[in-house]
Amino acid sequence: MSRSAHPAGPRHADVLPEGHYSAPPTDLNSLDPKVWAHTVRRDADGAVTVGGIDVKRLAGEFGTPAYILDEADFRARARAWRTAFGHDADVFYAGKAFLSRAVVRWLHEEGLNLDVCSGGELATALSAGMPPERIAFHGNNKSAGEIERAVRAGVGRVVLDSFQEIVRVAHIAQSLGKRQKVQIRVTVGVEAHTHEFIATAHEDQKFGIPLAGGQAAEAVRRALQLDGLEVIGVHSHIGSQIFDMSGFEVAARRVVGLLKEIRDEHGVELPEIDLGGGLGIAYTSDDDPREPHEIAKALTEIVSGACDAARLRTPRISVEPGRAIVGPTAFTLYEVGTIKPLDGLRTYVSVDGGMSDNIRTALYDAEYSVALVSRESAAEPMLCRVVGKHCESGDIVVKDAFLPADLAPGDLIAVPATGAYCRSMASNYNHALRPPVVAVLDGEARVIVRRETEEDLLRLDVG
Ligand code: LLP
Repeated sequence: MSRSAHPAGPRHADVLPEGHYSAPPTDLNSLDPKVWAHTVRRDADGAVTVGGIDVKRLAGEFGTPAYILDEADFRARARAWRTAFGHDADVFYAGKAFLSRAVVRWLHEEGLNLDVCSGGELATALSAGMPPERIAFHGNNKSAGEIERAVRAGVGRVVLDSFQEIVRVAHIAQSLGKRQKVQIRVTVGVEAHTHEFIATAHEDQKFGIPLAGGQAAEAVRRALQLDGLEVIGVHSHIGSQIFDMSGFEVAARRVVGLLKEIRDEHGVELPEIDLGGGLGIAYTSDDDPREPHEIAKALTEIVSGACDAARLRTPRISVEPGRAIVGPTAFTLYEVGTIKPLDGLRTYVSVDGGMSDNIRTALYDAEYSVALVSRESAAEPMLCRVVGKHCESGDIVVKDAFLPADLAPGDLIAVPATGAYCRSMASNYNHALRPPVVAVLDGEARVIVRRETEEDLLRLDVG
């Protein structure tokens, strides 16, 4: 590894500019287990390993940038969700967070169901052997072709998102001689953010049918009349990266209110309620996510309490965690390319990827952590901004983070908690080649999604 000397950037707390960071960490070599996958360790000799493999070996074998996914951790988190909710509930992993055939097989083996939201995700699920009855099909604008494929395959449920779709799915199911199980997705008027929710604000969006003004009740009324549909329940998803359960509480009460209205009007008690996903994870040491068993307990109590009050039988609950299962299980491994210290500001550290493999910082102002993983360092902390190699100044991976002041080109750094919505939202901007996903387990590493090649790019460009 080449190591060129460079003037150290700003380091001391008293000269730090404003930013999204806490005080410099006391030990830059420590890896907070909250944000790193379960099997990530720094050994006594300073080497960082995952699944027992040195990350330097992974970089040598698979190149950088690469997403490194801890299979044992993925399975453990999937199992924890499954166990927490028990047999009277269903856990649908949200494939949009990250989907591959290996992931589908792990989910199948661990007893989870799968939420897909496009023909591509459906094809991946089916090709890896997920039983169709364990698949839920989502989306606010499913094409007729996608609906037909899902119904023909025998998916367990289609989540209806609009009045048009009620008729479309009924028609397609009937023409195939089938009766499709469906849920109606409602918007309950709760907008959930990380630590808060803003009631009433969120009918103004593209998803779902508003409870307000009796629209959701009307949707159920229409769906119940159509022979091609079997209405099994109501669905609500309130947002992303949520730590505070109060948004779920309001949503569950409102959904149960609708179930009561349906019972009173039609004499039907719908057997299921889906509360969606959105549970938060730790991206930095400041985040404190809840454990699956706490979430399961809270959601179950909220729903059964609301049902008791409405004198309804408690429906079967389902949830759709994506990020909370896969997010913490992977990190992105990068090689440091150039380093630019700016006095009184910060040091720009450029890596060999960027917004093409992690758009979340640019898109949502997301916060991430970062660590030097190819060696230990006793150097003092240096305030850095980790940036990519794209032609855009907003190409930021980690906005504010401390790395050792002796950081040098050729060092490997890793950004934890990139399992969700990074590979799945990756792009070819600047004709970047999307990185591979490498799964590690018990001392073995294997590519589950290979790196793109220039041939892949040129094959699509038919001239
Ligand atoms: N169910 C439904 C109906 C959803 O729309 C979503 C996410 C989930 C479940 C899973 O949510 P999760 O548990 O993963 O938070 N790209 C954004 C997140 C978009 C989420 C879209 N829907 C991000 O990177 O934060």
